Amino acid sequence: MAILKVMKLGAEVLRRPAAEIEAKDLKRGRFKGLFDDLRETMVEYAGTGLAAPQVAAPVRALLYMVDPEGRRASAGAVPPTILVNPSFEVLDPKEVEDWEGCLSVPFLAARVPRARKVRVRALSETGKPLDFVAEDFHARVLQHEADHLDGVIYLDRVRDRASIRYTVDF
Ligand code: NI
Repeated sequence: MAILKVMKLGAEVLRRPAAEIEAKDLKRGRFKGLFDDLRETMVEYAGTGLAAPQVAAPVRALLYMVDPEGRRASAGAVPPTILVNPSFEVLDPKEVEDWEGCLSVPFLAARVPRARKVRVRALSETGKPLDFVAEDFHARVLQHEADHLDGVIYLDRVRDRASIRYTVDF
């Protein structure tokens, strides 16, 4: 296992669509090392999500969690979970704005509109089909991380640009 370098805004790998992963490669454990490194790296940087392109691995995999101790606990806790080749169907077209930040865009936060409720289809890290519904903060984290797989950064989706702010005093 290793703590990987998190790529920052401006890195080309953050801006190009990532490649699908084949289920047979998951079953063979070909990506196990990457998934372990994603877990270790997310813990090191206290993130709530980390997509493979953020560690310069241009494949459609993401890691996320919803912390039961966090201020978003009302969304329901989700343990650290890997999703591969995720796709979404919007179940509630109502968009909700809330704060987001990103390990690839340090020291900034902004308000981002996201679909409130989505149906998620993906493969598990061992290649099993997953199909579930995510709401509120859970849905937000997933949409943010999945955007990374398409080369999209949350700042691209900010509607209220005046909300963009530093999270630290320099
Ligand atoms: Ni991010």
